[in-house]
Amino acid sequence: MSSFVKNKQSLPKDLLSLTFYLLIVNLSMQPMLNIAIRAARSAGELILRSADNVSRLSIDQKGKNDYASEVDRMAEREIINIIKAAYPEHAILAEESGEHKGNDFVWVIDPLDGTTNFLHGFPQYAVSIALRYKGRLEVGVIYDPLRDELFTAKRGGGAMLNNRRLRVTNQNSLKGALLGTGFPFKTDKHLDAYVGMFKALTTECAGIRRAGSAALDLAYVAAGRLDGYWEIGIMEWDMAAGILLIKEAGGVATDFSFNDKYMESGNVIVGNPKMHQLMYQLIEPHVTENLK
Ligand code: IPD
Ligand code: CA
Ligand code: CA
Repeated sequence: MSSFVKNKQSLPKDLLSLTFYLLIVNLSMQPMLNIAIRAARSAGELILRSADNVSRLSIDQKGKNDYASEVDRMAEREIINIIKAAYPEHAILAEESGEHKGNDFVWVIDPLDGTTNFLHGFPQYAVSIALRYKGRLEVGVIYDPLRDELFTAKRGGGAMLNNRRLRVTNQNSLKGALLGTGFPFKTDKHLDAYVGMFKALTTECAGIRRAGSAALDLAYVAAGRLDGYWEIGIMEWDMAAGILLIKEAGGVATDFSFNDKYMESGNVIVGNPKMHQLMYQLIEPHVTENLK
């Protein structure tokens, strides 16, 4: 049985208790959402201040086609300082500095999602911060500093863009749909499988965009700017906040086995329920054993 179904069993059964339960969850997470917003905005400002000086930044190559600049590291330090000042006991999983041990609250941080874009002056990058408690996503924030767009979500409390409530699209066919994706660029291990998926989808929909920030791709699905998105091999910090946004905006996320192990595998398909199903049908024949 999928764990979506399993989790529902722990929810209150009648409508009144469920409403009350969601209200309590919602209120108790507000201070943490506020901290995530403060940290994301502060990191975003820092990133913007450096955007005109990218040629002077020191850049490390972490792996093939995988870069981190001093801005990634400075933004991450800023976020962690803000979180630690408010919640010194909480644990952290951050892209650049890894795991910082703590209690059952874990902040999952991508200080700059879209580093390659940032380093090229290509205007598509964001800060992504999520909070999970005992394995469940509670809070998600994605901040696009260039457009001053703040995407936020709280479990049970909906998803917002600035002050506007978000909803995934009602698109119910691939015809006319706009999809997002990410190309595998760090290794050619899954390239053939990816090309198979791409071929199957590209002539069926209106267009496929590869904008270079998985966090914003996910936020755009939640915001109804994209009808769906899929990618192979992304990391927990790329997707944690975005997945919560999508779920809170009425969307669906699965891995390539129609299950919820996307954080573990890094392989993810998202969309409104119908789009997700349509995409899955065309992607599934190209899923190799290693991608399940
Ligand atoms: C990358 C971006 C990109 C995705 C990569 C990620 P980074 O994150 O999200 O869109 O295709 O898989 O690694 O390295 O810029 O934080
Ligand atoms: Ca990333
Ligand atoms: Ca990053």
